[in-house]
Amino acid sequence: MILVTGGAGYVGSHCVLALLGNGYDVVIFDNLELGHIETVETLKSIQASGKVIDFIQGDLKNLSDIQNVFKKHEIEVVVHFAAYSQVAESMKNPQKYFSNNVDGTVNLLKSMIENGVKRIVFSSTAATYGEPIYTPIDENHPQKPINPYGETKLKIEKIMDEYDKSFNLKSVRLRYFNVAGADNRARIGEWHEPETHLIPNILKSTFGCGKTFQMFGTDYDTIDGTCVRDYINVEDLAKAHVLALDYLEKGGETNFFNLGTNNGNSVKEVFSVCEKVTGEKIPVDIQPRREGDPAILVADNQKAKKVLGWVPEKTLEDSILSAYNWAKKLSK
Ligand code: UFG
Repeated sequence: MILVTGGAGYVGSHCVLALLGNGYDVVIFDNLELGHIETVETLKSIQASGKVIDFIQGDLKNLSDIQNVFKKHEIEVVVHFAAYSQVAESMKNPQKYFSNNVDGTVNLLKSMIENGVKRIVFSSTAATYGEPIYTPIDENHPQKPINPYGETKLKIEKIMDEYDKSFNLKSVRLRYFNVAGADNRARIGEWHEPETHLIPNILKSTFGCGKTFQMFGTDYDTIDGTCVRDYINVEDLAKAHVLALDYLEKGGETNFFNLGTNNGNSVKEVFSVCEKVTGEKIPVDIQPRREGDPAILVADNQKAKKVLGWVPEKTLEDSILSAYNWAKKLSK
C-alpha cells in the first residue's frame, strides 16, 4: 500500500488518480489546510483497479499523527507532497515554511524508518536551482535557492541523502517546473485559495466575471518582454511519479530528475493560447515586475526520459483546455 501525503492537494490528487489507474491501493494523509475534502471524496468514488483505502486527516508537524498512519496500515512506499509552496509567502514567513516543510518531513522520515519503510518519491521543485546561470536547466545546475520555499525543498533533498547513508532509505526527488492543467475529465483540478499561478488567474478573468488579469512585467530580456516558463501538464507529471515508483521497486538508487517539457512559453504566449482556447477577449492590465521572478526557467528533461522512460505528451493547449474545463466547474 502506498501512503500519499498531501493527496488532497493539486499535484498530490492527480498523482493519486494515476496511482489508482495503475492498480495501487492508496492511503491519503492530509491536514486539509490547503487540500480539499471534496477532492478526497471524488478520489474515493473513482472506480479503478486500485482504491483509496483510507483518508486520514492529520498534520506532519505532529509526530504521533503520522506514526499512527504506519500503525494502522502496512505502508510499503511513500509519495510525499504535503508542503507549503508559495514563494512570496515564504519570504514573509520563512519560519512557517521551515517548520512545516522541513520538520514535517523529518517526522515522516522518522516514522518510515521506525517501520522499515525505505522508499520515497518526493515532490521537489525547480525553485531549488534559484536564478539560472544557463538554460535549459539540467540536474547538474548548481542548487542555490533564492527564497525560503526553495531552500526548504533543497534541505529536504539533502536530509534524504543523509537518510540514505545512515538507513539505506532510497529517494527519488522530482523537481517540477511550472505545473499546469487538470484531470482531462475535470473531476479534479487546481484549487488554491488565494490563487497566485498564471493559468488559473488568466482563466479567472473569463466567464464575464469582470476581473482583469494582472500581467507582471513586460520589460524582461526575453522574446516578448514577459517571463518564460516551462509548463508541464499535471497528468504527465503524475505519470512520472508512477515511473519513479517502478524505478525504486526495481532496486533503483537515490536519484533526482527534472520534470518539464524542454520548452519555454512566455506569459504573453500563454495568455494568447488562453484567449484561443476560451474564445474570449480577456481583459488585461500590465503591472510592474513581481518581486523574485527570474526571466527564464526551462527544464532539460533528458535524464527523466532516459532513466525513467518518461515521455511528456500533452501540449500547452491541452493543459489550458483541461484547466478551463475545471475552472468552469469550480466557478459554479
Ligand atoms: N504571472 C502573472 N500574473 C499572475 C500570475 C503570474 O503575470 O496573476 C506571471 C509571473 O509573474 C511569472 C509567470 O506568470 O512570470 C509564472 O508565474 P506562476 O506564479 O504561475 O509560477 P512561478 O514561475 O512563479 O512559480 C512556479 C511554482 C513555484 C515554484 C516555481 C519554480 O508555482 O512553486 O515555479 O520555478 F517555486
